[in-house]
Amino acid sequence: MTAPGATLKSSLDIKKIREDFPILSSEVNGKPLIYFDSASTAQKPKVVIDSVSNFYKYQNANVHRGVHTLSQEITVAYEKARVTIQHHLNAAHPHEIIFTKGATESINLVAHSFGKKYIQEGDEIIISEMEHHSNILPWQQVCEEKGAILKVIPMNEAGELMLDEFEKLLSPKTKIVAVNHISNTLGTINPIKAIIELAHRNHTPILIDGAQAVSHTLVDVQSLDADFYCFSGHKLFGPTGVGVLYGKEKYLNEMPPYQVGGGTIKTVTFKKTEYADLPLKFEAGTPHIAGGIGLAEAIKYVNLLGLENIAAYENSLLEYATIELNKIEELRIIGNAKNKTSVISFVVEGLHPFDIGTILDQLGIAVRTGHHCTQPIMQHYGIQGTVRVSFAFYNTKDEIDTFIKGLERAIKMLK
Ligand code: ALA
Repeated sequence: MTAPGATLKSSLDIKKIREDFPILSSEVNGKPLIYFDSASTAQKPKVVIDSVSNFYKYQNANVHRGVHTLSQEITVAYEKARVTIQHHLNAAHPHEIIFTKGATESINLVAHSFGKKYIQEGDEIIISEMEHHSNILPWQQVCEEKGAILKVIPMNEAGELMLDEFEKLLSPKTKIVAVNHISNTLGTINPIKAIIELAHRNHTPILIDGAQAVSHTLVDVQSLDADFYCFSGHKLFGPTGVGVLYGKEKYLNEMPPYQVGGGTIKTVTFKKTEYADLPLKFEAGTPHIAGGIGLAEAIKYVNLLGLENIAAYENSLLEYATIELNKIEELRIIGNAKNKTSVISFVVEGLHPFDIGTILDQLGIAVRTGHHCTQPIMQHYGIQGTVRVSFAFYNTKDEIDTFIKGLERAIKMLK
């Protein structure tokens, strides 16, 4: 544990890193910005901003469609970005990487296409109590359409999934399991290797929603043996509007396309269409080219820092902030899993999270308030919402100190 007042040790040069993020030197409401909302969307380093800007300034053309030089060059760059992502996730093939709009679209894609191919009336789909709405609603829709049944892995009071209950839910009727790697609200890091193994013992494929995980931990889809793994680019310091679905070739080949249109075909006649091979079968329309290229730059940036160094530093921020928050009377941290990432949700007795967030905003401190698109978690704890702080490697102990002072002030004002 870090003693209060001590400087947090890190192999990263945080001061220098902060200079890579232009927004971090800005002011909000006349105060230096303290950005504690990276679980919502992470800030972007200059290399990412420049790659997006350079695309529109010097490289703009469409991919997979032209004989002209610009189009061919950008197609090569875009496919290189796919390979960067493939290597980052250690996927076996580049065509197992599908570009999407984000984690939400990736999950909708799997629910729609996998559901269409493999799910029948009476089948069962397992999710967990701590899923983001984006990993609940698509499965609810499949259940409604197909007459399938949604089962939910419960969590304990600390906010950890109960794996013995998961084992009991698995049956020959289970056609797919979908759980998150890290909870966006509780910060819980789920034991996904064990969860994947249990699903596979039941011969059930599994989708992992990695939206909150990829910015904090290295993911190796082959060693995990994940069937599907998805994330959004913008939480990994990349552009908004781009994301990734990794899927095992065997499933992606068998699944029908999600959206159809330009780019997804081999031949079209009015009688019949033959669809393209992977990955294009799942990438209808002109993609977010600048987004894909910018995301690859973000991945290279993060890898230069090293995800292990990032995780170690963020853990020290988490520990320090947890100690300091626990000193505040009437404050209750929601989510006390043994294995947590740098996300802390809390409530203060008698106060509305929105009011706390509004006062912190006046002090230049950005936090998220509300249900965080996880209403079932709120129902579990019998609360309306929380204040959530989420740290990235560009945050500092000094910022936590300023936040704690601001929070104490907000509580005094509101009581
Ligand atoms: N899912 C994002 C969050 O947790 C938006 O804030």
